[in-house]
Amino acid sequence: MAVSSELGEQTCAEDDYRALMGSFPTGVAVVTSTGADGFPRGLTCSSLTSVAVSPPTLLICLHTRSSTLEALYESGRFAVNLLRAEGRRVAELFSRPVDDRFAHVAWAFSAASGQPVLVEDAIAFAGCRVTRSLLVGDHAVVLGEVTDVTRAAGAPLLYGLRRFAAWRPDQDG
Ligand SMILES: Cc1cc2nc3c(=O)[nH]c(=O)nc-3n(C[C@H](O)[C@H](O)[C@H](O)COP(=O)(O)O)c2cc1C
Repeated sequence: MAVSSELGEQTCAEDDYRALMGSFPTGVAVVTSTGADGFPRGLTCSSLTSVAVSPPTLLICLHTRSSTLEALYESGRFAVNLLRAEGRRVAELFSRPVDDRFAHVAWAFSAASGQPVLVEDAIAFAGCRVTRSLLVGDHAVVLGEVTDVTRAAGAPLLYGLRRFAAWRPDQDG
């Protein structure tokens, strides 16, 4: 639905929208799934947002042309891998057109979710079951119910203003 106001319906320029959202830093995840061929797929994703605690539900927004989205629809499942501060190389790897992204990282199919997880580069990963999806423009909003969580020590990787950064809390924080 377009936003309407007394000034009439209007939509801002895409560059203004990108700049707006670029000023809202986020963590960085690699969202993974398994295609019908049994091979892992994954992409770097910063649109991860919490939706509900009960039942534990998160959402991701994936471009409709994403090959990972196709796998996710096929399997009905996915995993979110929250990248550690040292994971910039992995974030770049999973956002570029590399033939086999998984050949360059340590990964395994999770015993809990059956989905591919990045065993060295994530400070946490979670298995999710797709409960709903909605097409909005050029992206699909996918809701996932979290089935299992595994956490490790470490600080998260951040992304904002078109740059990566490591989480660095205030000394008194
Ligand atoms: C920091 C960062 C965050 C990103 N977040 C998203 C996102 O939330 N959704 C999305 O569709 N693409 C996102 N991308 C772009 C995808 O990672 C990129 O288009 C990738 O090549 C898609 O791979 P696939 O088509 O194999 O799934 C992001 C890229 C970067 C560097």
